Amino acid sequence: MSQFRDKVVIVTGAASGIGRALSEELARRGASVTLADINPSPVEEAAETITKAGHKAETFVLDVSDYDAVGKMVADTVARYGHLDYLFNNAGIAVGGEVRDCSIDDFRNVINVNLFGVVNGVAAAYSLMVKQGYGHIINTASLEGLIPFPATVSYVASKYGVVGLSNALRIEGVDLGVKVSVVCPGYIKTPIFQTSKMIKIDREKMLKSLPERFGITSEACAQIILRGVQRNKAIIVVTGFAKVLWALQRISPAVIRWMMRRDLRKSRKEMRIED
Ligand SMILES: NC(=O)c1ccc[n+]([C@@H]2O[C@H](COP(=O)([O-])OP(=O)(O)OC[C@H]3O[C@@H](n4cnc5c(N)ncnc54)[C@H](O)[C@@H]3O)[C@@H](O)[C@H]2O)c1
Repeated sequence: MSQFRDKVVIVTGAASGIGRALSEELARRGASVTLADINPSPVEEAAETITKAGHKAETFVLDVSDYDAVGKMVADTVARYGHLDYLFNNAGIAVGGEVRDCSIDDFRNVINVNLFGVVNGVAAAYSLMVKQGYGHIINTASLEGLIPFPATVSYVASKYGVVGLSNALRIEGVDLGVKVSVVCPGYIKTPIFQTSKMIKIDREKMLKSLPERFGITSEACAQIILRGVQRNKAIIVVTGFAKVLWALQRISPAVIRWMMRRDLRKSRKEMRIED
């Protein structure tokens, strides 16, 4: 029997990509899933697909960077079901571009959604889980929370924050019954690459440069994440290529910096849009 059967689960960023695939798989395994997203119609559509297949889904439209909204979602879920088993803080955005081309608002937006979105989820759910004596918070960071990729510096800053928060909170939670995991995916084939803001980067050329053969689908990613959650892994690194790069980062950060410098020089030549 699935570990997720009859469990109460919230997934943020559930209208698309990894969040949607996680919601569908969790519901298929018997969980009652609240799909939360900033985009009303795609999240309704995602939930409808789940309920039409005979599984349990609710929706909540919110901006994860709004603490009051996140608090209300957690309170409403607990009022409805009496408790909360899993919170997947998955919603995220990215801005591509070098720091010399980014505004302070680009940094604010990315950090508000990616880092404060997770902080808000933790602030709303962690103490409640401590009172329950159980619960599992799963935060989506990125391989970019483990390795310093240039030209997405705001994203890297937000995701390093999510990794640090998750690793430290895991230690606080362990004797109180609350589990914390962080997910660090490499390249997952989702719409994020089409929808992200790009500054002085030719999107078509960037899309062509993605390492297609090292990428996996959202559905495959969701399976790997749920296996990691079942095993209560601290850090769930997704894709073989991401694991290789992370190993290299731990063995020799200087080699990774050299590779990143080389790739940046190449992408400046091939896809940078000059004024
Ligand atoms: N796709 C990848 O290669 C990849 C790699 C590493 C990490 N990630 C991370 O995985 C997570 C999911 O990304 P994805 O690739 O599935 O992207 P996606 O764009 O397909 O899905 C992201 C979802 O988050 C929602 N969202 C964005 N801002 C929000 C907000 N303020 N409040 C609520 N919902 C909001 C969007 O509407 C969308 O439905 C993100 O945190 C992303 O940073 C993705």
